[in-house]
Amino acid sequence: MGHGSSAHVTEILARSRALGFLGPTTLDLQIEHARGFAAALAAQGVDSPASVIDLGSGGGLPGLVLSEIWPEARIILMDGSVRRCEFLSEVIEEFGLSEHVSVLAGRAEDLGHREDLRGAIDVVVARSFGPPAVTAECGAPFLVEGGALVVSEPPEGRAERWPAEGVATLGLGPAASVVEGSHFVVLRQAALCPERYPRRVGVPAKRPIF
Ligand SMILES: C[S@@+](CC[C@H](N)C(=O)[O-])C[C@H]1O[C@@H](n2cnc3c(N)ncnc32)[C@H](O)[C@@H]1O
Repeated sequence: MGHGSSAHVTEILARSRALGFLGPTTLDLQIEHARGFAAALAAQGVDSPASVIDLGSGGGLPGLVLSEIWPEARIILMDGSVRRCEFLSEVIEEFGLSEHVSVLAGRAEDLGHREDLRGAIDVVVARSFGPPAVTAECGAPFLVEGGALVVSEPPEGRAERWPAEGVATLGLGPAASVVEGSHFVVLRQAALCPERYPRRVGVPAKRPIF
């Protein structure tokens, strides 16, 4: 197979792609890129999180690939698109992954206020979710103190995209840039995110905090 993912995950992603839920690059490259999230975290000293949210998982990336790297973790694939979530729920059931992978349909701005999820998750990963301020505001509320937000960055990504004072509003520490094949930033949740975040659906994008 070459890229180190199981036939199951490769098959699911191929279906996902056929439905138009994945970007245009080859599956192998997308799987490789998804594995980079785990490598970026490991580079920051986090090896086996117990709970992970894939923020805006879409067709299942990077969450499905990470579910293989972290088989003991509870992985939640979260997305606002009903169609994508229905697809993900079906394949997770079909391929017998439901013991540790689940799907949560809804907007992150709403789900971030759910009592059972708020301040409860070790790692939030995000690939192509939105601009830094939106990703940070939607991701931070889920994280436990000491948790980590890992976001893939464009190749020309620079640390200024994640200003320290801006992310501190959400209880996040400064962004560490990590290159593991691709570019990533890792931010630690230094203190729990203040209760007022995330703001109402659409507001993080309309009035970004930084
Ligand atoms: C560009 S896609 C990326 C999907 C996947 N992570 C990938 O890299 O292939 C962004 C996804 O985030 C979801 N999304 C965007 N904003 C969201 C929000 N506020 N709450 C929940 N899902 C959201 C969209 O429905 C979409 O599936």
